[in-house]
Amino acid sequence: TATNVENKTEDGESRRDFLLLATSAVGAAGVAGAIWPFVDSMNPAADVLALSTTEVDISQIEEGQSVTVVWRGKPVFVRHRNAEEIEQAAKDDSASMVDVQKDADRVQKPEWLILIGVCTHLGCVPLGQKPGDPRGDFGGWFCPCHGSHYDTSGRIRKGPAPLNLAVPPYEFLDDEHVKIG
Ligand code: FES
Repeated sequence: TATNVENKTEDGESRRDFLLLATSAVGAAGVAGAIWPFVDSMNPAADVLALSTTEVDISQIEEGQSVTVVWRGKPVFVRHRNAEEIEQAAKDDSASMVDVQKDADRVQKPEWLILIGVCTHLGCVPLGQKPGDPRGDFGGWFCPCHGSHYDTSGRIRKGPAPLNLAVPPYEFLDDEHVKIG
């Protein structure tokens, strides 16, 4: 289960990032994530920050599936959306919901959704909603800490979280690889 990470320690951001890593469900990139607090504590120059990009092979992610990778110590959700999810994103375009897919780069590949998996309330890691979930059928992510809901585009549909899930910088290197950061 995720941990409320409101507690701040002397090294602030680094500590928070480490806790987020520890609470994410996926440990595959744990080594890279684990060294980040040490790199960060040395206040690295820009060339060192280049190390903080993460390349993801998306060729094995099937429609309707997500993977979680670690970028700068934070979980990032990479989701291969199905046609229904893409359609849903277009339908729910109400004024209160900023569509994170509107940016030109992202519209190029609407089947891919890439989001920072950190709740915009107090920083817990939202969990993917499963069909038949008693919380309702909204298909996106819910935050186990205080109950915020995000839809299948990462848009807030129930607080207390104030904002949509953030979109990290990313670039498709080719049809099978995306670079985050
Ligand atoms: Fe409070 Fe997510 S951290 S709802």
